[in-house]
Amino acid sequence: MVTYQDAATAPLKNTGQIRLYDEEAFAGMRKACNLTARCLDELASRVTPGTTTDSIDRFVFEFGMDHGAIPATLNYRGYTKSTCTSINHVVCHGIPDHKPLREGDVVNIDVTYILDGWHGDSSRMYPVGKIKRASERLLEVTYESLLRGIAAVEPGARTGAIGAAIQVYAEGERCSVVRDFCGHGVGRLFHDAPNILHYGNSHEGVEMRPGMIFTIEPMINLGRPHVKILSDGWTAVTRDRSLSAQYEHTVGVTETGCEIFTLSPAGLDCPGLPQAS
Ligand code: MF3
Ligand code: CO
Ligand code: CO
Repeated sequence: MVTYQDAATAPLKNTGQIRLYDEEAFAGMRKACNLTARCLDELASRVTPGTTTDSIDRFVFEFGMDHGAIPATLNYRGYTKSTCTSINHVVCHGIPDHKPLREGDVVNIDVTYILDGWHGDSSRMYPVGKIKRASERLLEVTYESLLRGIAAVEPGARTGAIGAAIQVYAEGERCSVVRDFCGHGVGRLFHDAPNILHYGNSHEGVEMRPGMIFTIEPMINLGRPHVKILSDGWTAVTRDRSLSAQYEHTVGVTETGCEIFTLSPAGLDCPGLPQAS
């Protein structure tokens, strides 16, 4: 039976169909994604030894509220926080808590704001104080992996080209690619078709077309790729407890390549790394 409610929300269900968005939608995504990027910019100076991830979560909530946006993770599938904070060997979906960050930690902060119905999804790594050279190298390799994936976005190519570019580069740097989580279509919905794998072959996946909008968010490990989920039902960690990093951008496919919606207006896409201004 199709109820009135089903009919009303039909355009907002993940049907597996890949949506193509128009220029008005691109304008909406630019705004939502820019707000997310500005929040991540603000966090660069706030992530210091002694900062709790709860206080980061509070900042993300309040910054959103101050700008008319709601964090998409709030009450999403039972998740109750405004952001995910994934420290060291935590791969993704770390839950903010009262524990202070410590000098030498690296933490991923993942923010998705809903602004005027559009979802802006992005994450960055933040070094806490001075970090080891090995940690810094993983952050550099991971952001470069994301950039290589983005460079593979082109109408006519398949989404597998993104994963292939990431895997070839990351494994060539003696790192591994997490298989258990992927990028995703995003727009009116938080998680939509298509899935964007961060490994694989360029002839796999669906053909990219102008108007598609999705995230690329590789998780790269210094050790083996395998993960497990802790008993809280969310926190994903590396099985070998090796260091893990992730950066995420939301992109829209254009006639010639793609537009990165979540670029930092302040040039802080890799906070704390030497090449970042
Ligand atoms: N922001 C994450 C992503 O990049 C999803 C977090 S869902 C949560 O897709 F429930 F764990 F918050
Ligand atoms: Co995402
Ligand atoms: Co995200």
